[in-house]
Amino acid sequence: MIDAAALKWRRVRLPGGSVAIPSRADQPAGELDQELRLLMRALDRQPQAPLLEVGAWDAGLEIAANAAGWPDDGMLVPLNMGALESCQAGVGAWTVLPPDELLPAEATFAVVRAPHWLGRAGVEWVVRAAARALPHGGLLALLGDRARGIESLRRRLPPVVGPLVDRAAGEHRRLYVFKRQVDDPPPQEFPWTVGRRIAGREFTVCQHPTLFSPMRIDPATALLAENLPDRGGRWLDLGCGSGVLTAAASGSDRELTAVDWSFAAVETTRRTLTANGLRADVILAEGPPPGEQRFDVILCYPPFHVGPRVDHGPAARLIRAARGCLAPDGELRVVLTSAQSPRDLLQPHFREITPVAGAHGAQVFSCRQPGTARGRRR
Ligand SMILES: C[S@@+](CC[C@H](N)C(=O)[O-])C[C@H]1O[C@@H](n2cnc3c(N)ncnc32)[C@H](O)[C@@H]1O
Repeated sequence: MIDAAALKWRRVRLPGGSVAIPSRADQPAGELDQELRLLMRALDRQPQAPLLEVGAWDAGLEIAANAAGWPDDGMLVPLNMGALESCQAGVGAWTVLPPDELLPAEATFAVVRAPHWLGRAGVEWVVRAAARALPHGGLLALLGDRARGIESLRRRLPPVVGPLVDRAAGEHRRLYVFKRQVDDPPPQEFPWTVGRRIAGREFTVCQHPTLFSPMRIDPATALLAENLPDRGGRWLDLGCGSGVLTAAASGSDRELTAVDWSFAAVETTRRTLTANGLRADVILAEGPPPGEQRFDVILCYPPFHVGPRVDHGPAARLIRAARGCLAPDGELRVVLTSAQSPRDLLQPHFREITPVAGAHGAQVFSCRQPGTARGRRR
């Protein structure tokens, strides 16, 4: 189990007054309040329900819509379990559902507050998912920061969604409203798979636009994949992303589990395994899988941010949780970038920390003896 992130309430000023919105402290929800404000100010009439937000980081849209007296019918689609929890903390009558449960033509008016930290391909994927959930003639409101590429995305969207029918600006943000008229859009240009040689074996790795390092295998990932412990037993890939470490760790003497809190990561890891004829238990969870399982080896490349800003809190919680589910003689094999401190992230939890390899500013560590460090928990 991972320590729960605290829930925080924030007040957001909207045209009709202010509203209170809850979200987890480790979620980037407040980053998109200006987009919410622009939406509520710029629309000159109520959108037709049901509403939809894809890439929802909290229930702000529902709370704002209620305050404005809009019809109380909508859906929030978060991308990971942290965002899902933030949405659930504030949701009323609307439904919170994962992206793969969104049906075609399920909404009438879709909102995307562009999560620019996912990068250009990630935001485009979110917009396409929102457009697919609209019927022909449905409206899609795209909002984003002028300095973060929203205008170039706007130029690319008409062939994918349909014509631009409205626009507004404010607080350095832009609102573009598209009418869905394209029923059969061209596929997103994206390298959905990459080939990679790791430790002498050739792998096909599936990619997803909303995941970490979506266009290539990150050098720190590759470094960890090339420096795995030489032992069998129960292995856990904690924060599996596209599944590259899960695939690299596969071996006949190993029982493999992969876990991630991102819906897309779990699906992509399963595809990576299938593409290579491999098997593992792939689980959607926050932190280690639920239950009392202990692992002989845990692999982890901890996140350095969830939203746009560097935040070592999520990495610290993940590593603490890893320590709690290691077998007594188990090992955490972790890679840290130069932005992540082994002193802060590893030393509070492990007595034996050995550097194993380093390259491109990243370092792989072997961490053992979790039990003895427990008294130093912070
Ligand atoms: C730096 S990425 C590494 C991904 C993959 N292992 C790789 O090396 O390409 C960190 C991963 O941890 C996942 N993650 C972050 N916080 C998590 C949490 N609390 N529980 C489960 N997974 C988490 C993210 O979704 C992301 O896939």
